[in-house]
Parts: sequence; C-alpha cells; structure tokens
Amino acid sequence: MRIDIISVLPELMESPFRTSILKRASDKGLAEVHFHSLRAYGLGKYRQIDDAPYGGSAGMVMMVEPLDRCISELKAQRQYDEVIYLTPDGETLNQKIANTLSTKKNLLFLCGHYKGIDQRVRELHITKEISIGDYVLTGGELAACVLADAVIRLLPGVLNDEQSALTDSFQDGLLSPPVYTRPAEYKGLKVPEVLLSGNFSKIEDWLHDEALKITQTKRPDLLQ
Ligand code: ADE
Repeated sequence: MRIDIISVLPELMESPFRTSILKRASDKGLAEVHFHSLRAYGLGKYRQIDDAPYGGSAGMVMMVEPLDRCISELKAQRQYDEVIYLTPDGETLNQKIANTLSTKKNLLFLCGHYKGIDQRVRELHITKEISIGDYVLTGGELAACVLADAVIRLLPGVLNDEQSALTDSFQDGLLSPPVYTRPAEYKGLKVPEVLLSGNFSKIEDWLHDEALKITQTKRPDLLQ
C-alpha cells in the first residue's frame, strides 16, 4: 500500500512513521508513506496557500489553485483508490472504514487547516471525507496519522501473531475482554480461575461472555 499525504506541516507527522509498527511496515515494504508540502505549490513570491473567505466570515480558507495543482500532479502519477479529506465534518472513522481502506493500493490524504479548503477542491478531487471524532483539531495532520495507523496495522504481515488484529476491540463488533498476566494474585486481586484452568473451550466462552458484558456496560450502542 502507498499513502501520500498533502499538508502544510508535514514535519508534524514524521515521528509516528519513524517508530514501532509503522516503521516496521515500511521497512518490510508493506506500506510506503510519502509527505508532500503544500507550500511548494503556493502562489507567488510568498508561496501563498490561503486567503480570506468570500462573504467575509472569520478565518482563512485554503485556496483551490495550490491544492488542485498538488493533487493533480499526484493523480497524474498513479491512480488513487480514494482521495480523502480529513475534516471534522466528515464521516466518523470506525473499524469498518479502516478495514475497507486496508484493502486499497493507493490512498491520498489531504490535511486541512484554518477554516478548511475551498469547496471546489472537494468537488474536483475528494472522494471521501473522514473525521476522527466530534472535536476540532488545529489541522488534519494528527487525524491523518490516526487514520494511517488504523489502516496500516491491518495490512497482512504488519502485525505478528501476538499482536493479531483479529482479537481487537471492534473487530467482531464487541469491545475486548479483560486480559491478565503473571502473577496469578496481586494485592489480593486474583486472576479469574477459568483462565488458569487450561480448558480452552471454557476459556473461549468466558472471553466471549466478558466481551458481551463489557460492551453492554460501556458501549450498548454497539450491540444494537
Ligand atoms: N481536522 C480538524 N479536526 C478534525 C477531526 N476531528 N477529524 C479529522 N480532521 C480534522
């Protein structure tokens, strides 16, 4: 998979991709992430990328021309399965969206700033709009990192068996059951007997029941 990310602040996103699982994915050749600085496509001597909105409301708007030039140049080089704008008014990210995107080959992410992007960029290029939650960040960069992480960890070969994505919360529509490791008793708190029993079918049943109970308590909406 290849992910291209357009941003005015690409530096902000470098470290997540330089460490841990995302780095391993890139070292193994399973995912490549490329950053593109929008400033390079800015207009005039000052490489302008934003301007005051028509209609006179507050804040600045990312101009259509630099964004169109940057996106068009990338689209001329390869076919993107989705061109995704990270924005608080997009569809809220969930595991299903991450699963679907993990099957794609080329993704292009656009990070917004200021009051957003000129509407014509959406009309010309954007195929999907994604929000990472009902709150407003200073820009789309951290949202792009969250989305890339959620997608890349699902690529075959990125996680080893122990980290397997199959038992994640949400993957089967339920939250994960509690987990324990040694010691079997700590400050009077005991690991549930069944987990020490060695009876794998009983353990399976217990894990499923716990997942159901926890989901019912914390996120009953997931059971509807
Ligand atoms: N940009 C600013 N806030 C955002 C959010 N919640 N999700 C995605 N992109 C954003």
